[in-house]
Amino acid sequence: MRAIAGQLGIGVVLLIALALCWRLQDASAVSPPSGTHLATAGGLVLAWLGFAVWMGRRGARHVTRDPGGVLIVHASQTGFATELAAKTADELRAGGLAVDVRNIDALTPARLAEATRALFIASTTGEGDAPDAATRFRGEAMRSPLPLAGLSYGVLALGDRDYDDFCAFGRELDGWLRTNGAMPLFDRVEVDNGDEGSLRHWQHHVAHLAGTTGLADWSRPAYQRWRLVERTLLNPGSEGAPCYHVALAPPDAAHLDWQAGDIAEIGPRRHRGDSTVWPHREYSIASLPADGALHLVVRQMRGKDGALGLGSGWLTGHAVPGDAIDLRVRTNAGFHPPADDRPVVLIGNGTGIAGLRALLKARLASGHHRNWLVFGERHAAVDRLHVDELERWRAQGRIERLDLVWSRDGGSERYVQDRLRASADALRRYVDEGASVYVCGSLDGMAPGVDAALRTVLGDDRVNALAASGRYRRDVY
Ligand SMILES: Cc1cc2nc3c(=O)[nH]c(=O)nc-3n(C[C@H](O)[C@H](O)[C@H](O)COP(=O)(O)OP(=O)(O)OC[C@H]3O[C@@H](n4cnc5c(N)ncnc54)[C@H](O)[C@@H]3O)c2cc1C
Ligand SMILES: Cc1cc2nc3c(=O)[nH]c(=O)nc-3n(C[C@H](O)[C@H](O)[C@H](O)COP(=O)(O)O)c2cc1C
Repeated sequence: MRAIAGQLGIGVVLLIALALCWRLQDASAVSPPSGTHLATAGGLVLAWLGFAVWMGRRGARHVTRDPGGVLIVHASQTGFATELAAKTADELRAGGLAVDVRNIDALTPARLAEATRALFIASTTGEGDAPDAATRFRGEAMRSPLPLAGLSYGVLALGDRDYDDFCAFGRELDGWLRTNGAMPLFDRVEVDNGDEGSLRHWQHHVAHLAGTTGLADWSRPAYQRWRLVERTLLNPGSEGAPCYHVALAPPDAAHLDWQAGDIAEIGPRRHRGDSTVWPHREYSIASLPADGALHLVVRQMRGKDGALGLGSGWLTGHAVPGDAIDLRVRTNAGFHPPADDRPVVLIGNGTGIAGLRALLKARLASGHHRNWLVFGERHAAVDRLHVDELERWRAQGRIERLDLVWSRDGGSERYVQDRLRASADALRRYVDEGASVYVCGSLDGMAPGVDAALRTVLGDDRVNALAASGRYRRDVY
């Protein structure tokens, strides 16, 4: 309809302009055209041109809107939101809808403004922060108004009530969409630590949108029964809590299937023989399937009362070698190694060595040796979590640069962030050469310290651009 009205409008304006030009020509046969007549004709032609351009734009905009399709945007730190976006897309496709699934780092204001329906699946990380992939969208698009009156949307906010700012980013996104005129299709759905009730609620909304009755339930995949095959203390004599190398064998070799950067979810037990289903705990995988076993590096935690932590207590204390361990692997695409041979800068502390070790193994297996690892612990003599292996790789030239930073050995640089600042030129050179930066380990102290050091050395804009383009990735907890 709009297009037809546009054509008619253009036609009418064109006819009036032509008739006036004719009259002017007639008049000029008797007397020369006055300046007023010429200005009127010129004005009309300009008005017509303006009108035509305006209609053209409206038409183009109308054509790019996809009334049948749904835009699905995920903002994930450790992969769960991405996984749920894929499930949401499957459900909509099953209902015959076209979908456009995007990481928020690939979402432009223009793409959002032309969408008619969008579903956002957004987690919160840090202390109420947005996932790294959302850095650019939040810092740029969400700072300016955007005409979203034509958009209907839904938000699935992932979070955990143990944190002060529950679902902070999902809530912020929802508020921003509303402020800009977008209409919620239904109330925001908030998920506390993957709770199945909320997920079913979201699935219900999605099925309604798709016109389906809901496919299989979205509850998290069942655990497989792995076997604890090896447990070695990695830091005997340490002042810190004991840290163990834990190796697990799958029930079937087909389960040896993950990528460096992925996460193991463990179903803990309070003691051997306990059959209660406790909330899962997450651990970065420290090995590759080619190693034949899934390795973890687990710090044994204790509460104030001295009781062992739920997950770490099960893996490092209660369970004994030979016991079955409930485990499932979660893909964490945001922490996978680069597909090409670009350099990498790997930064971490403590049990963060787990994720970095898997990344290094993947790089070594594909023959990529431009690896710079900056790793921090307390004492060189005792806190050597896999450090002998790292030094061997360094001696073989498979790690280009290895910086070990010991916080309690009296050196001038105590933490990995101090070493980064002291190596500013090298850091800039690596990033200029296209390096991706990976950070794994503690959220308290290390991750914010490293972030601040990167910003000092590279500047805010560069760090934000690295995060937005997936060249600054973090698995911190
Ligand atoms: C993506 C990701 C990757 C991870 N990777 C690793 C890894 O590679 N290695 C690793 O060791 N950990 C890793 N973690 C951390 C791990 O998931 C667990 O959080 C950790 O093992 C502690 O869990 P827990 O069940 O043993 O302790 P919990 O029982 O959850 O207790 C944790 C701590 O909280 C305190 N606490 C608990 N309950 C109370 C209470 N009632 N009152 C006061 N204090 C209390 C105690 O100090 C206790 O030590 C990772 C986490 C994430 C999110
Ligand atoms: C290090 C860390 C920090 C977190 N911070 C918060 C937080 O501040 N608020 C919140 O609601 N949830 C927080 N969470 C919980 C996550 O949002 C929740 O686990 C979510 O399911 C993760 O989804 P993702 O894998 O897509 O990133 C945090 C989780 C981790 C591991």
